[in-house]
Amino acid sequence: MTVLNAGKPLSPPVFLAPMAGITDRPFRDLVARFGAGLVVSEMVASQEMVQAKAAMRERAELGMNVENTAVQIAGREAHWMAEAARWLEGSGAVMIDINMGCPAKRVTNGYSGSALLKTPDHALRLIEAVVEAVAVPVTLKTRLGWDDDLRNAPQLAARAEAAGVKMVTIHGRTRCQFYKGRADWAAIAEVVEAVSVPVIANGDITGSDTARQALTASGAAGVMIGRGAQGQPWLLAQIAHNLFGALAPDIPEGSRLLDMVSEHYEAMLDFYGPELGVRVARKHLGWYMDHAGTADAAARRAVLTAKDPAEVLRLLGRALTPEDQVAA
Ligand SMILES: Cc1cc2nc3c(=O)[nH]c(=O)nc-3n(C[C@H](O)[C@H](O)[C@H](O)COP(=O)(O)O)c2cc1C
Repeated sequence: MTVLNAGKPLSPPVFLAPMAGITDRPFRDLVARFGAGLVVSEMVASQEMVQAKAAMRERAELGMNVENTAVQIAGREAHWMAEAARWLEGSGAVMIDINMGCPAKRVTNGYSGSALLKTPDHALRLIEAVVEAVAVPVTLKTRLGWDDDLRNAPQLAARAEAAGVKMVTIHGRTRCQFYKGRADWAAIAEVVEAVSVPVIANGDITGSDTARQALTASGAAGVMIGRGAQGQPWLLAQIAHNLFGALAPDIPEGSRLLDMVSEHYEAMLDFYGPELGVRVARKHLGWYMDHAGTADAAARRAVLTAKDPAEVLRLLGRALTPEDQVAA
């Protein structure tokens, strides 16, 4: 089934999952540049955003008008969810995703995120309010259910579809599983059967083999990938090539990998400012080094503790291209 956004296909159906603190503008841009059908912003708390936390608005705003970007909102009050969606649409958002999957206690204690699986009537009111507030497509991201006794994603998805939701992404775990165990892709099939809008399978997809297995087990229309893309922003494009015939990405290695990582680093410093940027960038640099496998523990530590950006880049060169450094 083709996944559509306002009549245009979201192609290839390999999407970047929203991850707070990770899928910021620089990372989304990088993943999109290699090739992804959709990238999703970090979750924004609807009430806080509408009540004008300037930094939050700016963070959400940047890039939300970029084609094939969905902005994700979370909240527990229909009024604030609708207001947030309206504001985002007015600021250029082309797609709004509702978060009903976040298991974090600070979110579920506020009765938002995956806690809404326990109160489906209330969840529906939020969905209806958002759909009524905007003309752009509204999508839903949730889990299989709250726990093994309440695996109600199929019912919630069917009601969400009736309310006007255009796509449903399911992380194949319950809330109470957090990130433990393995994602149950076969269980996503029950959601696929319950709705006629596209369903996207998510959870533990780390490459073309697992993407294929998730699609086969679930019958989903596409896949969404989160942690697997850390340190390898080309992964989605690679999966899209292997499974959906998209153009093969040019995967950088050696000095070209260093160039790509350096560019990503500079983009993070620009986006966050140098002080915060140096700290935020560390997790990405760690993943790049882990993935490349070229840095020993000392080289890795040196990159991740250096404070001066120029020094970080110099150490990164040694960590990612040790052979070039010896030759030079
Ligand atoms: C650090 C982190 C932050 C996340 N933030 C969000 C979020 O803001 N909104 C959301 O719907 N899911 C969030 N998730 C869940 C992911 O979107 C995804 O559903 C989950 O990681 C499973 O997919 P994966 O195995 O491909 O990572 C987050 C996950 C991680 C690891």
